[in-house]
Amino acid sequence: MPYSLDELAKDIKGILEDYGIQEGSDKVCYFVQKALMDQNFIHHNLKDRDSENPNPREVLYEDLELGFCVCGHVYNQEADGTPHDHGSSWAIYGQASGETEMTEWEIVKEESDLKFVKETKKYIMKPGDVRFYNVGDVHSPVRKEPVRLLRIEGRNLDNIERSKIKEF
Ligand SMILES: [Fe+2]
Repeated sequence: MPYSLDELAKDIKGILEDYGIQEGSDKVCYFVQKALMDQNFIHHNLKDRDSENPNPREVLYEDLELGFCVCGHVYNQEADGTPHDHGSSWAIYGQASGETEMTEWEIVKEESDLKFVKETKKYIMKPGDVRFYNVGDVHSPVRKEPVRLLRIEGRNLDNIERSKIKEF
């Protein structure tokens, strides 16, 4: 049976209602992975961008009650992310196709509104890989080739202010 966007949104919502994200993040990751392994899901929800739909980011589902979002990100070209957090939100990244080189950073110093970070971990995310980044976690994704991602956001990151971050 193909897995649909509606089912994914419903599964995530159920987990967040029953457990919250701190206790339920592994369970949410499980369902994100289920979507990533479904070629039909990827085909319908992570389409190639074109002149009609050029934005790499698409909010596929936004839950008006709990505020979480399911987003599709499709990058046709290399994309280099600098270290960032997700403000007051958590985020789950799921790799659908291509590879992302992910670096995690630890905050070593804070000065007024500026956070200084040092690298702690680097790994490659391959198709099917899913990672949870808690509120305040800092990471930087580098994409060397066209990639497709599913990103679940605790709150729509379009409307969230992120911290100012600098490498230490
Ligand atoms: Fe991020």
